[in-house]
Amino acid sequence: MNNLDLTEQVFSYLSPRIQKLLTKLQPEHYDFLEEIRLRCHQPLVLKAHDKEFTVTSQGDIVNNLHQGYRVTEEDINRIISTISDNSFYAFEEDIKRGFITIPGGHRVGLAGNVVTQADEVKAIKEFSGLCFRIARQVKDCAVPIINHLYKAQERKVNNTLVISPPRCGKTTLLRDIARLLSAGYKSYPASNVVIIDERSEIAGSYRGIPQLDVGIRTDVLDSCPKAIGMIMAIRSLSPQVIIADEIGRKEDVEAIQECINAGVTVIASIHAGNIKELLKRPAIKELIEINAFKLGILLARDNGPPGLVKQIIRWD
Ligand SMILES: Nc1ncnc2c1ncn2[C@@H]1O[C@H](COP(=O)(O)OP(=O)(O)OP(=O)(O)O)[C@@H](O)[C@H]1O
Ligand SMILES: [Mg+2]
Repeated sequence: MNNLDLTEQVFSYLSPRIQKLLTKLQPEHYDFLEEIRLRCHQPLVLKAHDKEFTVTSQGDIVNNLHQGYRVTEEDINRIISTISDNSFYAFEEDIKRGFITIPGGHRVGLAGNVVTQADEVKAIKEFSGLCFRIARQVKDCAVPIINHLYKAQERKVNNTLVISPPRCGKTTLLRDIARLLSAGYKSYPASNVVIIDERSEIAGSYRGIPQLDVGIRTDVLDSCPKAIGMIMAIRSLSPQVIIADEIGRKEDVEAIQECINAGVTVIASIHAGNIKELLKRPAIKELIEINAFKLGILLARDNGPPGLVKQIIRWD
């Protein structure tokens, strides 16, 4: 799928008015589009290359957001009805999570009036804002680090922690690691992989089916809490590798220890700017101290594109 198809997949959900405004976008905009934000009565905001821009009511592309087309209630309501018409059964359930995944694995974050009951989100109604996050697969982005993942003399994969500040490419890297390990890379053997995809970001599942290529020997537990999913996967899917994004809670740490004790490799990601920051988190510090992870991959952006491998750390 090329980037134009990809963007069209998302644009078809926008209101007719906004679709029309976006016709002047050039490949340099949509090829790298990361986000489209719509807030009621506020300017339409698009983001590419980590920079925001907007579109005027005449469809001209400008950087000054104040000159942008103001999103109307009608725009938001039309988009909501297109999304809910296409996922009639899942819609009510999905919005409780605060976002909806659409075909292609793209995500629509929702803002509005949140209805709660007994500390649980029951619904969101009277929508006021939408954030489209475009899922983009970067095939082979894990190739430069794949050799490090395998243990030197054995045919096993190292327990690995991918570390970075927000938006540096953790989820994208995990997705490609799943794909490569599941196929077997060069002379390295293939693995059965299970992705515990709590927020549907790695595989971008729509109605339970991955929309992004996560590999031929990969199963996905979609929308499943990480700790529960890891234990469930060991019992039911006999994985060699379990992949989970954004670990950090105490129960995640316990589940990771159980996986490792069961001989299953864990590859997980975590938010942290550097190793010092990482070690400030007691639960993670404990995992590092007991040598649970053998390999750390620190990603950064350094004012450039995401996915930069800043440091490879060996804890073994
Ligand atoms: N290697 C890469 N090459 C080009 N673009 C990339 C690469 N890795 C990630 N990106 C792009 O950068 C953006 C952020 O990537 P991603 O969502 O994977 O980061 P993240 O660290 O998981 O972010 P978050 O902290 O929000 O979870 C996405 O638009 C993604 O398509
Ligand atoms: Mg992420």
